[in-house]
Amino acid sequence: MREIRELVRPRPPRLGRSAVLDRCHDVDDLRAAARRRLPRAVFDYVDGGADEEIALAANRDAFRRVRFSPRVLRDVSAPDLATHLFGTQIRAPLGLAPTGYTRMIHPGAEPAVARAATARGLPYALSTVATTALEDVAATGHTNLWFQLYVLKDRALTHALVGRAETAGFQVLEVALDTAVAGHRTRDVRNGLTIPPRLALSTLLDIGTRPGYWTSVLRGAPLTLANLQTARAPGQSGTVAVLNDLFDPAVTWDDIAELRARWPGALVLKGPLAPADVRRAVEVGADGVHLSNHGGRQLDRCVSPLHLLRPAREAAGDRLALVLDSGVRHGADIAAALALGADLCMIGRPYLYGAAVAGQAGVERAIDLLVTQLRRTLQLLGVTDLTELRKLGPELVTLPPPTGSHRPAEQEGGHV
Ligand SMILES: Cc1cc2nc3c(=O)[nH]c(=O)nc-3n(C[C@H](O)[C@H](O)[C@H](O)COP(=O)(O)O)c2cc1C
Repeated sequence: MREIRELVRPRPPRLGRSAVLDRCHDVDDLRAAARRRLPRAVFDYVDGGADEEIALAANRDAFRRVRFSPRVLRDVSAPDLATHLFGTQIRAPLGLAPTGYTRMIHPGAEPAVARAATARGLPYALSTVATTALEDVAATGHTNLWFQLYVLKDRALTHALVGRAETAGFQVLEVALDTAVAGHRTRDVRNGLTIPPRLALSTLLDIGTRPGYWTSVLRGAPLTLANLQTARAPGQSGTVAVLNDLFDPAVTWDDIAELRARWPGALVLKGPLAPADVRRAVEVGADGVHLSNHGGRQLDRCVSPLHLLRPAREAAGDRLALVLDSGVRHGADIAAALALGADLCMIGRPYLYGAAVAGQAGVERAIDLLVTQLRRTLQLLGVTDLTELRKLGPELVTLPPPTGSHRPAEQEGGHV
């Protein structure tokens, strides 16, 4: 009787943002909640991909086509998700990928993301085009910060950024190699997205339907590219493409060699690296490659990084750590990537959806959902830790070759 009374005992209802988070049971739910919260142009900035969004859809397709063949009777009562990367312990094989303009998504901006990463014991990579100065993010006390560098036309400014990241105590420098020019984000172009969002007539109409977003953003700090204040920037606002004009299409391996010589910590190269480029990464002295097609936001039709994993592992052997992102939406995706040779997965949009809904708490919710799913997947796979997952990988996971089929991105999560 007491148990039944306990079950039906009225509990104080959780209100506001916490209640919304409680109702999010997977990343698709977080995405839907973010969509309700954000103005259309801001949601599309987070959610969209390049051109026809073929790569965006293919990233999910690759993970969806994975099939598991589990082992049984292997005492999976306490799976261990911890791992080490670049000399640092990480609580689960997951990190938060660099994303620009976070303050546009939530006024807590990058410090809120860094605090969530600290609370969950995961690395966070801060973007060059962050809206908080890298020193202020370091001041949150997070001890596993990566700095993602765009090599700028202004090399003196580029090297100054690297020096600042070192002084501020960032552990890893990761250089993005997939942004010779800005990708064509069709939704942003159609929406006329400007940074900060301008008070055009459509924006004013949006305020009526998204009062929560607008009151918090208008009360928050102004949106600036905080790390590039001294850049020969075309002002602090404009379309995303205009701001991307800072980036240098003439970057070569010589620039990477120079950065290697300057940066004493771990160096990671981020992009859709083919085996020949993975071998160059080893030669130039990189410590890791971050296989990524920028979440389908740069080269449309770019191969999904999941399909690059095995060739990259064959090219690199154990000489490089392999990080993977683009399309990770479930803990089972992380399990599959590790079984295929990755050391760490990263997420971009999933934590931004969480941030849009509830700042730090929303980022933590995104992480918790994925880590809980990963733990359950390992248990059902009959695996007790990540070393075993990697060792048994080829036996546990099948990844069919890409189909080349195109399922429009709109179908993802029922979004129109
Ligand atoms: C809104 C947004 C902004 C991004 N900004 C950057 C950036 O400034 N630098 C960078 O290297 N990658 C950037 N990326 C790419 C992410 O680092 C990551 O590669 C990608 O989001 C992973 O795919 P996923 O969103 O499917 O998880 C951005 C991605 C998104 C969604």
